[in-house]
Amino acid sequence: MSQPQYSPGLEGVVAGETAISSLDGGLSYRGYSIEDLAHHASFEEVAHLLLHGDLPTAGELDDFRRRLGSQEVVPPPILETLRRIPVKVPMMDVMRTGASLLAHWDNEVADNAHDANVRKAERLLVQLPILMAARHRLVQGKEPVSADPRRSFAENLLWMLLRNQPTPQMTRAMDVSLILYAEHEFNASTFTARVIASTLSDLHSSICGAIGALKGPLHGGANERVLAILQSIGTTDKAEAWVMDALAKKQRIMGFGHRVYKDGDPRAAYVKPMCSELAAQTGNTPMEELADKVQEVVWREKKLPPNVDWPTARLYHYFGLAVELYTPLFVVARTAGWSAHVIEQLDQNRLIRPAANYTGPGKREWKAVGDRGA
Ligand code: CMC
Repeated sequence: MSQPQYSPGLEGVVAGETAISSLDGGLSYRGYSIEDLAHHASFEEVAHLLLHGDLPTAGELDDFRRRLGSQEVVPPPILETLRRIPVKVPMMDVMRTGASLLAHWDNEVADNAHDANVRKAERLLVQLPILMAARHRLVQGKEPVSADPRRSFAENLLWMLLRNQPTPQMTRAMDVSLILYAEHEFNASTFTARVIASTLSDLHSSICGAIGALKGPLHGGANERVLAILQSIGTTDKAEAWVMDALAKKQRIMGFGHRVYKDGDPRAAYVKPMCSELAAQTGNTPMEELADKVQEVVWREKKLPPNVDWPTARLYHYFGLAVELYTPLFVVARTAGWSAHVIEQLDQNRLIRPAANYTGPGKREWKAVGDRGA
């Protein structure tokens, strides 16, 4: 048998088939370009597209919104548990625990039928943001607030987190960020979810694993580090020296580079103008100028373009959101994509079990413990 080619990090390896999204000729979800979706759609329409295979008709959208609205509750024992988790525990760890807790109160948890998984996915889509918002308020010493089913998904999120009526521009920008975060082919967390599903485990377990994978700074965790970078640099005049120093120390600059997009991440390009606009409206133009300078130097020195996390972190900052919410917001959006992939995996399942090149010692003879030396 000929030895298959090894590709470190599985770069370029085709590890499965999907009808959910494609990066060929730009990013598209089920055939619709993300630019079109970001321009025209709401997150609810995109979630429907990902989970149900098509954009909803007006009637289907009403039904979908009603179903989501009717599930806007998190079981009280889960809220009680959230109170007991030490305040120092990071929000992403609470999200992972929260997804696991939600499994214990979901009557269909072990049902892997297509329709049951769609129903569970719809529940997770509304429960995870409520859980996130509840925990956010509890750590501030405030009581959780209920979701408001009259509001859109994006507006509700901002409302639950900020308790201020968001402007239409903020709501639209949040919608766009959720749409762009919702799905991205075989990225690390989605692949994790598919591997877990492929053992015939369950949707909640797949989502818990995916949250764990997303948390890392090379993946979703980058958006929180982006803000830390900008805040630590402080002012535009320090940007050049900061980047040169970081590169000299061989540090990775979060929010730059991508495994697939070597010439630029289309999601970053879409968010950037919204970011500049919101910066101007909220008095944050200096941070935008600083970010532009960092981007210019990173490109000049390394030819690395920004990825989606570079502008999205700033967008969330301009909303007035706390940094520890940035990656959890990514979770909220990507739950739609993860769930669609788990459902697709289970609909055509074969266990995912790749091979490895062995690099350890050759065959050795057993020695009793007394014969292994001092
Ligand atoms: N800063 C500095 N150098 C970098 C960066 C960066 N952000 N990204 C790549 N490089 C360098 C890397 O050091 C290496 O240089 P050399 O060949 O001299 O050793 C070269 O580029 C290739 O790096 P790689 O790790 O082999 O490339 P990859 O395709 O495996 O990496 C990546 C992709 C996203 C892990 C990487 O670009 C990175 O670490 N970026 C920063 C983290 C980040 O922003 N992640 C968010 C990704 S997009 C949204 C998401 O999925 O969450």
